[in-house]
Amino acid sequence: MKVLEEMVKAGHERVVFCHDERTSLSAIIAIHSTVLGPALGGCRWWPYRNEDDALDDVLRLSKAMTYKNAAAGLDLGGGKSVIIGDPAGRRHPDMLRSFAECVEALGGRYITAEDVGMSLEALEEIGRYTKYVCGLPHGSGSPSPATAYGVYVGMKVCSEEVFGSPDLSGRTVAIQGLGHVGYSLARRLREDGTKVIACDIASFRAAKAAEELDVTCVPPEDIFSVKCDIFAPCALGGAINPDTVKKLRCSVVAGSANNQLSEPDMAWVLMERGILYAPDFLINAGGVINIADEIEHGSYSRERAFRRVESIAQRLRQVFRISRERNIPTADAALMLADERLRAKRDSTE
Ligand SMILES: NC(=O)c1ccc[n+]([C@@H]2O[C@H](COP(=O)([O-])OP(=O)(O)OC[C@H]3O[C@@H](n4cnc5c(N)ncnc54)[C@H](O)[C@@H]3O)[C@@H](O)[C@H]2O)c1
Repeated sequence: MKVLEEMVKAGHERVVFCHDERTSLSAIIAIHSTVLGPALGGCRWWPYRNEDDALDDVLRLSKAMTYKNAAAGLDLGGGKSVIIGDPAGRRHPDMLRSFAECVEALGGRYITAEDVGMSLEALEEIGRYTKYVCGLPHGSGSPSPATAYGVYVGMKVCSEEVFGSPDLSGRTVAIQGLGHVGYSLARRLREDGTKVIACDIASFRAAKAAEELDVTCVPPEDIFSVKCDIFAPCALGGAINPDTVKKLRCSVVAGSANNQLSEPDMAWVLMERGILYAPDFLINAGGVINIADEIEHGSYSRERAFRRVESIAQRLRQVFRISRERNIPTADAALMLADERLRAKRDSTE
């Protein structure tokens, strides 16, 4: 992959490759935009097959963070980092310190946080060596409950739009991935009397959800064709692709995963199939809204943060209205909103 060429195409400001021979750290930090403020975005720790896959992921994820933070109305830019490796595997005791030092060296242009594969304990370790880290246990903590709450609030808006009522009791939701967000979402939905059908490639997570929440579990490959009202991708990106989109038997796609559409065209395919899509970066912004509370106020209030997470409802309604009026996919309408904010900020500083 030609890195500079890709940066120019997607508009990235800076991509930093981090390697420490002593600790075997291999990481990439991508800063997509600092137009609205410091680039905030989690660190994903994942055993990528190769460097190209890791780079592709960090470039896509960091750009999505710019749009997510802009669309959520936050004064924060977009960035992301990836550590290449297995978080469950053996590692040098100073490996996370090496990573933290790379973040620190960016002087606050990039603020890191939790993402897939990154535990709070690991984040605390990073926090010992850099101040540019958010979502620590003594601060806003794990963003996942707030993300799940935002998705839940967003699902109600989707239900209102499609079925004429926000009430989710008696509806069926299929969840792909029962990790931090998926599990918390499943619990909220079950409390509402929603039927939940779910899957996870980690069978112990599926078994736990079946036992504790009375969730019906299916094999991971079957989740796309489950007949349901709402399909919630809560695993990794690319869940909606040319193969899976044909299998969907739902009226709404609304979940937490980043980059749910394998390619932008999928937004049109969903629209043509009459499936309402809640743009991922809009509906999964609960976590960053939660973290922003800590950054903006210097200390964290869960009540204040969760109240702000509810603003996702009003933004989704706005996006659905634009999509209807212009006959464009909801994903395009959400990008338009975010772009408007970025353009206004650029214009005001020029
Ligand atoms: N945690 C947050 O606050 C947050 C915020 C915004 C977006 N997201 C996104 O939401 C998604 C879930 O985040 P998380 O924090 O719950 O991650 P997580 O790692 O805790 O959970 C992901 C789960 O998905 C499962 N999984 C992976 N591939 C699967 C597949 N093909 N089929 C079924 N299950 C599969 C994993 O086994 C795991 O249990 C990710 O895409 C993440 O980037 C998370």
